[in-house]
Amino acid sequence: MEFRKLGTSDLKVSSITFGAWAIGGWMWGGAEEKDAIAAIDASIAGGATSIDTAAVYGYGRSEEIVGKAIKGKRDQVQLLTKFGLRWDDTEGDHFFAWTDENGEKNIYRNARKKSIIHECEQSLKRLGTDYIDLYQCHWRDPSTPVEETMEALNQLIKEGKIKAAGVSNYTVEDMQAALKVCPIASDQPPYSMIVRKIEKDVLPFCRENNIGVIVYSPLQRGLLTGKFSPDVKFKEGDHRGNEAHFQPENIKRTNAFLEKIKPIADNHKATLGQLVIAWTIAQPGITSALVGARDAVQCTENIKAADIKLSSDELKEIAKHLESLELQGAKA
Ligand SMILES: NC(=O)c1ccc[n+]([C@@H]2O[C@H](COP(=O)([O-])OP(=O)(O)OC[C@H]3O[C@@H](n4cnc5c(N)ncnc54)[C@H](OP(=O)(O)O)[C@@H]3O)[C@@H](O)[C@H]2O)c1
Repeated sequence: MEFRKLGTSDLKVSSITFGAWAIGGWMWGGAEEKDAIAAIDASIAGGATSIDTAAVYGYGRSEEIVGKAIKGKRDQVQLLTKFGLRWDDTEGDHFFAWTDENGEKNIYRNARKKSIIHECEQSLKRLGTDYIDLYQCHWRDPSTPVEETMEALNQLIKEGKIKAAGVSNYTVEDMQAALKVCPIASDQPPYSMIVRKIEKDVLPFCRENNIGVIVYSPLQRGLLTGKFSPDVKFKEGDHRGNEAHFQPENIKRTNAFLEKIKPIADNHKATLGQLVIAWTIAQPGITSALVGARDAVQCTENIKAADIKLSSDELKEIAKHLESLELQGAKA
């Protein structure tokens, strides 16, 4: 596993980071705790020692599971978590409502200083640690000036509660405002073979300003493993059922594209998922790919992608097939 320095911070993250959203169950139709802990164990054992979670994932459950899994191993891992999406308060900007077995919850974007200081204490408790390696603003809160959010992060760095400050889903303009107050180590945007908007603005900006980029959903939430057939029915409470990428015609077109690049995977004795992850971490400016896994089997498969080195001809071949892929109504 390769470790890469995160922007101007002292933090080094594994080129594949364990993504702990799905293991919280929330928006993924539930999850088994013992599988989740086994997945994190497999990640650490395989060298992918950076773990990304968020307070809102499972309304604290994901952080609690991560806390259990890393007990006695704190010095072996890099803990990345996020704040700024509140389900337990109504201050800030209403973001969306979600209904599942916990009833209807309204999620608010709240990146006010007071809320961040409170959230950090809660996350430290759930994670069972006294410091967070990277503390990221999950989404820009339009009701709070970026400067106020960054002041809170500066304070937490001074207090030793966090080692580095990061942001997620920030635009270039948001990052420009943030940098005036706090040295942000990284941005966490969406990025996969089929969602590449950041190549136009966020990636060049981060490269020019030495900001790390930790990309999320590189498998496009499982779609790019090639395992879904167009008639897939997701469990109740799994957000993918309503996502444009998972509509039958888009699954069909994505699978046809994956079939075209399969010979490259075969050439490396790799699965399609491994090829997709290897491609992601080979893209210029990407520091780490955040890959979600529900169990040890998925995780072990995913982290082996770090050993795959794609040639420039293989990268060109993938680019050629991507050019002819058109999806309907899905974010590109
Ligand atoms: N900052 C943000 O706003 C934001 C947003 C989204 C995600 N994230 C972060 O990024 C992480 C990764 O993104 P993600 O979880 O959305 O998507 P992802 O990594 O693209 O996909 C993860 C999902 O794909 C399936 N999968 C993974 N490995 C597999 C394998 N080897 N074989 C078959 N299926 C496999 C699993 O779901 P099934 O088994 O159910 O198919 C898994 O939960 C998250 O956990 C979170 O930490 C951040």
